[in-house]
Amino acid sequence: MPKRFPLSAVEAKGVRIVVNPLARKDLGYSPAHLSVISRSALAEANSEITAWPGYAPTPLLSLPGLAREIGVGRIWLKDEGARFGLGSFKALGGAYAVLRVLQREIVKRRGGAPPSSAELRAGKHRDIVQGITVTTATDGNHGRSVAWGAQIFGCQSVIYIHAHVSDGRERAIAAYGARMVRITGNYDDSVRQAASDARRNGWSVVSDTSWPGYRDIPRDVMQGYALMADEAMAVLPEAELPTHIFVQGGVGGLAAAICGYFWERYGQMRPYFVVVEPERAACLFASARAGQPTAVTIEQETVMAGLSCGEISPLAWEILATGANMFVTIPDDAAVSAMRRLAHPEAADRPVVAGESGVAGLAGLLCIRARPALAKLASLDAGARILCINSEGATDPELYSRIVGETAEAVRARAA
Ligand SMILES: Cc1ncc(COP(=O)(O)O)c(C=O)c1O
Repeated sequence: MPKRFPLSAVEAKGVRIVVNPLARKDLGYSPAHLSVISRSALAEANSEITAWPGYAPTPLLSLPGLAREIGVGRIWLKDEGARFGLGSFKALGGAYAVLRVLQREIVKRRGGAPPSSAELRAGKHRDIVQGITVTTATDGNHGRSVAWGAQIFGCQSVIYIHAHVSDGRERAIAAYGARMVRITGNYDDSVRQAASDARRNGWSVVSDTSWPGYRDIPRDVMQGYALMADEAMAVLPEAELPTHIFVQGGVGGLAAAICGYFWERYGQMRPYFVVVEPERAACLFASARAGQPTAVTIEQETVMAGLSCGEISPLAWEILATGANMFVTIPDDAAVSAMRRLAHPEAADRPVVAGESGVAGLAGLLCIRARPALAKLASLDAGARILCINSEGATDPELYSRIVGETAEAVRARAA
């Protein structure tokens, strides 16, 4: 099997960090933060999502071998590879936001209480629902979730992808009945195209990123993501509360959902929060460095396709601007090497299938831990208990086998 990406050492290329001076431990979780991520809105999302067919909490894996190897106390990995059979955590957000769009529309037209997802799946209000079209731009996973949500609740979907989205990812979305539109530009161009076509056609944009005047739907998306943190803490005893969380960022929605959850629930006891991005698409890092939302130009696509975003989500920034302690950029090699390390663990850990974007948070941890000065800055020592999220499995199976040198099925078979 040809290996397109060389297994070079994580230390070979630069890792950049910004320590956020605004993230003070004593800063309270404010009403403004609550308007983005809150436990009460999560309770609503929880009651719907956990009632969907095929729902099961994803596993929280412990990696004692890797923890020993890098000299930290514990590493937990929330493994989203099997989420609703869609292969990524995004199944939680987009589909939930589609449900909320339909509920709002039905209440607007018919009045009364919003119908439940079970009622919509049973065909109640079909006359309204089948006339509704939802749309979004995606680099793969979010579009798959929106298309799946549209299919299970009975509306139409049109999904925009950019020039670099792989054919495999395109096929995976189309399999849920979506009409696909491929544009010539990059991710940020596809966001703009979807929004302008939606305006012309009267479609509802179900985006995972926000912009001025467009908040409610991306907030629903993020609220769905927060369920992962709730599931993780349901199986961890309080005494095992993580000291650190490393989460990867695209537009920042995932990171903000997890950060907001822990901040609201644990206040000053909350874990030290690290946002990890590819060096080729580090808009959150650039924003932290500038102290305000700052776009970056993507000159070369990163292998971490789901994180290839040049503009932050302002909604996510409302939490991360003061909630994230550190922003880190990693080279593509670091993600590639972490994927291989998880697939072929040296110590007692079970092999894990982690996709290119899925592994980025853990890759950031490995990069920081390998550099004593940076590890010290983040207090990453033998007592650290770290939570990472494997946000996707092999969502592009061909690319996965090319990188790891083995198919995802073969890795899973070894794990079993
Ligand atoms: C697998 C994966 N992980 C992480 C992210 C980042 O999420 P966000 O864009 O909300 O920061 C994405 C986004 O598409 C993704 O597909």
